[in-house]
Amino acid sequence: MKTLRDWCDTHKPDYAVILGSGQVFPPADTKAAIIEIPYNALPGFRKTGIKGHRGVLKLVTLDGSAALVFNGRFHYYEGRTFEEIIRPIELVREMHVENLILTNSAGALNPEANVGDIVIIEDFLIPFDLGIPGSYGFEEEVRDVADGDIIGKFKQAGRKARIPLKMGVYAFMPGPAYETASESRLLRDLGADVVGMSTAPEWWAAVRMGLKVAGLSLVTNVHRPDAPPPSHEEVLEEAEKGGVKLIKILHRTIFGNGILRRQS
Ligand code: HPA
Repeated sequence: MKTLRDWCDTHKPDYAVILGSGQVFPPADTKAAIIEIPYNALPGFRKTGIKGHRGVLKLVTLDGSAALVFNGRFHYYEGRTFEEIIRPIELVREMHVENLILTNSAGALNPEANVGDIVIIEDFLIPFDLGIPGSYGFEEEVRDVADGDIIGKFKQAGRKARIPLKMGVYAFMPGPAYETASESRLLRDLGADVVGMSTAPEWWAAVRMGLKVAGLSLVTNVHRPDAPPPSHEEVLEEAEKGGVKLIKILHRTIFGNGILRRQS
């Protein structure tokens, strides 16, 4: 039986993608060929059997390009350790994939951002030290975390698809609850535009491993003094609606001129 390494040696993926919950890539109607491997068959992934912790890794190929797509990520609020959270990133590096795109759903802190907006993450901040992640004890500073080439491709994809994109800073919160009003104010004062419960730990590790990384947030709810607190239903509903736009950006970024093929 072919291993992931055999598949990657054959197709040489340029990109790896870790998708936010509810986001599906590639779109069901593309002609991309897909090889699927369940997480529990991947080296170093803990078998849990807990509902919601299932995941599948896809190797997606189209017109000679290839991408490794992780459907399902591990979160701190689920009780995962940082070693588990960054295991997909280690696998990306082990497969010699150079570029990583992280996507997520997020709440807007910037009053100019609205539900459905897609935000290119230009930087992130981790306001609470959770000891992320123990085993990569380098001492260099992490600066310029977002890769300019990938950001350039996002912007080009946005122009071609006529999907407006904003730029912003992503704040990581451990969860499991959405932010209180005071926390939202604090994060905004710290300079964050959007907030979520993923992405930054993986990004942090990926930068230290030498990967080129960029990320996209889909705004599913807004934090405003006059807005009701976010509900999980609202977030899931908006993730599904706005996810289509985000997936178009991903598709064009990874597979070039971006013709979304329809199955004949
Ligand atoms: N906060 C944290 N995580 C989130 C949010 C939010 O407002 N929206 C979607 N994921």
